[in-house]
Amino acid sequence: MTRFERAFITGASSGIGRAIALKLAGRGTLVVVTARRRELLDELVAEIEGAGGRALAAELDVRDTDWVRREMERLDGEVGGFDLVLANAGVGRAVHATRLDWDAVSDVVDVNFRGALATLVAGKGLMLPRGRGTLAAVSSLAGTRGMATSGAYSASKAGLQAFLETLEIDLGQSGLKVVDIQPGFVRTPMTDNQKFPMPFLVEVDTAAEHCLRGLEAGKSVISFPWQLAWPTRTLGRYLPRTLWRLLSRMSTPS
Ligand SMILES: NC(=O)c1ccc[n+]([C@@H]2O[C@H](COP(=O)([O-])OP(=O)(O)OC[C@H]3O[C@@H](n4cnc5c(N)ncnc54)[C@H](OP(=O)(O)O)[C@@H]3O)[C@@H](O)[C@H]2O)c1
Repeated sequence: MTRFERAFITGASSGIGRAIALKLAGRGTLVVVTARRRELLDELVAEIEGAGGRALAAELDVRDTDWVRREMERLDGEVGGFDLVLANAGVGRAVHATRLDWDAVSDVVDVNFRGALATLVAGKGLMLPRGRGTLAAVSSLAGTRGMATSGAYSASKAGLQAFLETLEIDLGQSGLKVVDIQPGFVRTPMTDNQKFPMPFLVEVDTAAEHCLRGLEAGKSVISFPWQLAWPTRTLGRYLPRTLWRLLSRMSTPS
């Protein structure tokens, strides 16, 4: 069972990142929480400290990949070395392809793909010389196939999953652990205004518990809830394209 001493988390001002930070802090981890909304991070730090935990906040926009590297190096030195880096920051909103514009697509790619990869690469740079640590990212079950109305989102998460798989292969002998977290639907501000059906929606606290249990158990892939993860990762992945297209169109408003 792995216990984490010092964790770095992106996208910790809200939703899954915030819930994981609270749980880690409750288990004794010093958590460095980052995002753009400083006031929410300060509230989170106060909540953690109020409960007897340890936390530090830093403003960070993961679209600025130089900033990500500089800030992670600075904070790693300040706290004495991260043993968990979690690339969690993400954006996503359903937009039918007929109404898609480039700004929306590039923002999703910049945050979910480039931002996550920048976080993982910077984390790898810090941990590799020490020969230990866990590099984790929150992708999504939506990365398994092209999801209706979520083209950029699905693509960004599929790319992230491929990158994590390669990291796991290449870093296999290095002492570093690589973890791909693939949630189904979780009730957070990201899903609050979604109009499409969200089967087996889980509460954010339950999602964070799944993540933590998987990380502590040393899993490579953490996917949940099983009612959605199992069919998506088995049947869904291998369903013929024509059938997938038909089912997707039937279940999605245009
Ligand atoms: N909710 C779901 O059903 C679900 C399912 C599968 C995967 N996921 C993934 O889980 C992760 C967390 O999502 P969530 O549901 O918890 O959403 P959320 O509540 O909207 O949280 C998203 C977090 O990302 C941060 N963020 C967004 N843009 C950023 C940027 N440019 N730089 C730094 N931080 C940024 C936000 O903070 P600021 O706005 O303060 O920067 C916020 O803390 C995402 O990667 C998402 O794709 C979610």
